Amino acid sequence: MVKKIVYLLPLLVGAGEDFISHYEYGQMLYNNPRGVSCVSCHGERGEGATIVEYRDIHGNQTIQGPDIRNKTKAQMLQSVNRYHRIMPKYYLTTKEVETIYDYIQKRKAYESGE
Ligand code: HEC
Repeated sequence: MVKKIVYLLPLLVGAGEDFISHYEYGQMLYNNPRGVSCVSCHGERGEGATIVEYRDIHGNQTIQGPDIRNKTKAQMLQSVNRYHRIMPKYYLTTKEVETIYDYIQKRKAYESGE
């Protein structure tokens, strides 16, 4: 059994980029985009999430990360590459942002049964 794994190892390493799918790569980037995870503000699927809840003189307040499942590829590229009040700026390549976009779209389609 162990012997078999040792024989397979060079194959797995050699597979390089093709070893994970485009979808998995997108998921990986969305979860861990060289900086704060998108998940913490936009939820696991891009559906949006509560970032923080607090109370001030006006009562209970919530800061919400929006649902980004219906954003266009252009909106996503623009958004990730600029400064915001809350959302951090990222240093991701166009290809990486497109891969995140594809991941969110594919997951949305899959979950709505398309
Ligand atoms: C700290 C919280 C936070 C993180 C982390 C974060 N976002 Fe956001 N994002 C926001 C908030 C809040 C908005 C609404 C606009 C604003 O106030 O900045 C937003 C807006 C957006 C929008 C919509 C822009 C528009 O045109 O309406 C997209 C797309 C987006 N984020 C994608 C991402 C992606 C992809 C990541 C990870 C690479 C990410 N965000 C990480 C908080 C976050």
